[in-house]
Amino acid sequence: MMRQENEEKSYSGKVKTLEILNSETAKMIFRDDITAGDGAKKDNLNGKGALNARMTEILFNLLTSSGIPTHILKKEDDITFLVRPLKIFPVEVVIRNTLAGSICRRYGIPEGEELKKPLLEIFVKDDELHDPLISESVAVSLGYIEEFELGLVKAYAHRVNKVLKHNFDKAGLILVDFKLEFGRDKNGLIWLADELSGDSMRVWDKETRQKLDKDVFRKDLGDVLEGYRTLEKRLSEIEFEPLREPLNVNIIITPKEGIPNPGGNVVKRAIENFGINTQSVRLGKFIQISFQENLESRNWKEEFHKVNNELLTNPLIEVFKIQIR
Ligand code: TMP
Ligand code: ASP
Repeated sequence: MMRQENEEKSYSGKVKTLEILNSETAKMIFRDDITAGDGAKKDNLNGKGALNARMTEILFNLLTSSGIPTHILKKEDDITFLVRPLKIFPVEVVIRNTLAGSICRRYGIPEGEELKKPLLEIFVKDDELHDPLISESVAVSLGYIEEFELGLVKAYAHRVNKVLKHNFDKAGLILVDFKLEFGRDKNGLIWLADELSGDSMRVWDKETRQKLDKDVFRKDLGDVLEGYRTLEKRLSEIEFEPLREPLNVNIIITPKEGIPNPGGNVVKRAIENFGINTQSVRLGKFIQISFQENLESRNWKEEFHKVNNELLTNPLIEVFKIQIR
């Protein structure tokens, strides 16, 4: 949980401190604090900051090589990173592979079973409200994030899951769930922010199903840092396999309301020959563009609007919708 705001020079979160140096750089400093229950339970564990900084470094490096744009510029020392200053979206993006935590409480179900497919949930970043679940449409309507940005953030989050899950499995670990934060820079580009460590994930040993994350602290199960050290050791021992899959951008072009669409009329008559009555049929275009790995964070929205308006779509007679997969 961390907030980055350009107006403030220094902001102290529950376990990290952020110092804005200038418009291009900020410092993210990991402290030894640990909290749970939205700050209700606290402790200070010697070496914890350095352990989480190391884990964040390892995992963000893997994500960078898998085409995820991250806010980290450079690791400065054991507990400090230079990062891009961002306006963090006030939502936390959680991906769950296996049942645990708040979803079990919400629906009265036991932890432990693998989900039929990875589940993405978003929560409001607000300790006082205890980070309530929020629907995508509410988040967009409240202006927490733009619809287009949410599409990109979701695509990135699923990509993060895919690459982490695969590599954790190689290291004999089950990636149960994790939380991500994203932010927008002054040019409107979107970057993965914050950290990834035992604080923001649930990870179990594949054989023994022993918990190696902050649940050990939340539930008083023993020495939480021992779990963090095991995680670090296991992940340092394997050779990481970055994800080499393209990112797909779909563009759906449909004729504007009220514009004659002769192709649609032909299809309408053909469908009606089957005895199916239709109000209208509009024929459009579907274009899929794939991007190779190592995506730079870029201003997709602007770029696609430009390409669309100047090349793919005739804005006088057509409208388009962009989907990111
Ligand atoms: P949850 O089960 O409490 O909703 O948490 C899902 C995952 O997100 C879990 O790995 C812990 C992480 N998380 C945070 O890192 N910070 C938070 O404030 C919350 C609520 C969860
Ligand atoms: N509510 C979160 C947790 O229990 C964050 C915190 O209190 O530090 O992990």
